[in-house]
Parts: sequence; C-alpha cells; structure tokens
Amino acid sequence: MLKGKTVLLGVTGGIAAYKAAYLASALVKLHANVEVVMTKNATQFIAPLTFEQLTGRRCMVDTFDRNFSHQVEHIALADRTDLVIIAPATANVCAKLAHGLADDMLTTTVLACTCPKLIAPAMNTHMYENQVTQDNLDTLRRYGWEVIAPGSGHLACGAVGPGRMPEPQQLVDHILRHLALPHDLEGRHVLVTAGPTQEALDPVRYLTNHSTGKMGYAVARVAMLRGAQVTLVTGPTALEPPPFVEVVPVVSAQDMFEAVSQRQEWADFIFKAAAVADYTPAGYSDDKMKKKDGDLSIPLKRTTDILQHLGAHRRAGQVICGFSMETRDMLENSAAKLEKKKVDMICANNLKVAGAGFGTDTNVITLITAAGARELPLMSKEEAAGEILDAALALAP
Ligand SMILES: Cc1cc2nc3c(=O)[nH]c(=O)nc-3n(C[C@H](O)[C@H](O)[C@H](O)COP(=O)(O)O)c2cc1C
Repeated sequence: MLKGKTVLLGVTGGIAAYKAAYLASALVKLHANVEVVMTKNATQFIAPLTFEQLTGRRCMVDTFDRNFSHQVEHIALADRTDLVIIAPATANVCAKLAHGLADDMLTTTVLACTCPKLIAPAMNTHMYENQVTQDNLDTLRRYGWEVIAPGSGHLACGAVGPGRMPEPQQLVDHILRHLALPHDLEGRHVLVTAGPTQEALDPVRYLTNHSTGKMGYAVARVAMLRGAQVTLVTGPTALEPPPFVEVVPVVSAQDMFEAVSQRQEWADFIFKAAAVADYTPAGYSDDKMKKKDGDLSIPLKRTTDILQHLGAHRRAGQVICGFSMETRDMLENSAAKLEKKKVDMICANNLKVAGAGFGTDTNVITLITAAGARELPLMSKEEAAGEILDAALALAP
C-alpha cells in the first residue's frame, strides 16, 4: 500500500526506541522506502545496524558524515520524503522541534521537510504532563504537526499514566491514513451500515443471518483512507473496526434504522451494506401477534425497510447506495430495487458465484445505476470497495 512512498522515521533517545524497529519492519512490508534518521543518543538504545538490516538503507545519525556523495544529504532527503514520523520522540526533541532548533541530522532534516509530519511523544508521565512539554506539543500542533497521543499504563520507568509509545500497528494506521490513497473524499461525510442484525425471539434466542460485515467494513476503511469522515453503523460482527472511523454498534433492525435515520441529514454518501433481513412473519397482523398470558416470547414486529426510508427522505445532493444478494434473476431484481427504493446505485451480488457473497474476502459485484449495469471481475472486498466508492463519487453533484 506504500509502494513508491518515502517515509522518514526519526528515532530519538527514549526507552521505546526498540519499538521503532517493529515500525520500520512493518513499513518495509508495506513496500515503503524507509529512511531512518537517529539522534546520537538514540544509538545508546538501539544500533543503527538494526535499522540498516531492516530497511536495506543507510541509517543516518551525523549531519557532517562525509560518506554521502554530491548532494547536501539532509536537504536531498527532505525533498524526497513523503511523510515524517518521529517515534519515539523524547521531550528534548519535542522542545527542539517546537523552537526550530537544527543541531543534528534529524532536527535539521525535519526543518527542511514540507510534507505531513507526525510525532509520537513517549516519556515518563511527569515529563509528559509537565506544562512545558504540553506547551511544546501545542506549538507543534500549531505548526501543522500531528501529535499522536501516547498510551497509558505501566511505563518502563515505573510510573503509571500516559507516556507510552503507541504500538507500531497504530502508528502504521496513522501513516496509511496520510499516504495509502489519494484523498478524493476529503471533507465528505460517509455513512456505512454493515453486518447482520439480530431479532430477539424470547430472552434466550434470536433470529439473524450469515452476514459477516466484511464488505461494509471494507467500504468504511477505504472511504477513511480516501480522506472521508466515516460513520459505521454495525450489527454484531467478529471484525476489528477500521481506525479513525466513528463506530455505532447496534443489534436489531430497529436500532439500525434509528441510528441511520438520525445521521441521514449529515451524510453525503450512504452505503447500506448491512444484511437486515425482513423478519416480518408471513400474514403478519398486529392482532395476531398479541401475546397470551405467561408467554415469554417477544412478538416479532414489522421490520422497517431502511433503504426505502433513506430513498424517501434523501436530501439534495445525497448519493444512496444499497446492496443486494440474489440467488436468481439478479439483474432484474436489483434494477427493480433501484426504482422502487429510489436510490442511486445497487451493488448486486450473485450468491451462486464462487468467491462472492457472505464471509469471503473476495466479491463479484455488479454495479447497477440508472445508466445501466457494470459487472466487476472477482476481486478483494477492499478493491471492490474502491470501485464502489469511485462509482458513487461519479454520481455525486
Ligand atoms: C535509560 C534512559 C531512558 C530514557 N528514556 C526516555 C524517554 O523514554 N523519553 C524521553 O523523553 N527521554 C528519555 N531519556 C532521556 C533522554 O535520553 C535525554 O533527554 C536525551 O538528551 C535525549 O536525546 P535526544 O532527544 O537527542 O535523543 C532517557 C534516558 C535514559 C538514560
């Protein structure tokens, strides 16, 4: 996901410097060019050789190293850097960067960088909470740095509280948000529903369906990576929600309906990927569903059709996209849904095709709009999410 991108990883003299090796390794696995610049004090904690082996590149420490060829290395490096991350950042380096000091290779190079800059302060809790450190971090924020809050817990120095460097995967998530995909959805609000819903039959049992939520979660994640502000309304799933996404957990179709209708006005794009089955019993009537004395069962109620509601209450300029699962007559049924529910696009799945539908990591989708149907080949759900978002963006005013 980071092929062709250059990440400058600054490592400073804190106890968490060893964690930077995991970060360097994770970035290399994502095909980034990782340039590590260490402070002299950081080399007391971890050797440059470790980073050189992990990245396959020279690790820089000394601004006046004569082994570089013809260019002024700190400027050449700053020019080719797509993103700077300093992790861990000592209190000392935070202070130096906040005041524009440039007295070593790291601070000099970073001062010359114009790309996005991230900093993960990691230190003893009292050092972190000290007003002077907080003021320095505020100054960095004012200068456009993204300050990644440290974790809380037992620190190596024995203190308990904030100051721990976040786990490398969390830092990778921050980097991916900046670099993985072009931000063509910046400033847009995207509402996604995902997963199954559950309808209680009695205090113990419930009705549900086979949805795992993978397709909806992929749409939410890719929209986030493309710069959108994303809210994911999700039924119960086993999936880790994507980072930087507001997650609204729901259980029943009615919960989902309420969560979605409250947010409809806010959304520029709505993707209803949740599999809310209609559990309305055949021949339902309010009279028939009345409970007899002593009956513990929960009467099933009429299920509100969320997509139909969204279509009927759309605001101007909103793009609404539904998903359909069909076992036969997929095109006809999906096109009919497009009309009946007054939505802009239906992403149709043929459940009988190998690699499509519930639970798989791949999908075979046909995108149906007023302009016609376009069948996509077998692809990962993340790739399919990208295609769905492209198509939705093309429909937006
Ligand atoms: C064992 C040890 C652990 C340290 N851990 C940290 C730390 O986690 N965070 C921090 O800000 N300073 C820490 N320090 C203090 C820094 O190493 C010191 O402020 C140093 O000047 C930082 O240099 P640099 O910012 O140029 O890397 C530690 C010092 C020692 C001896």
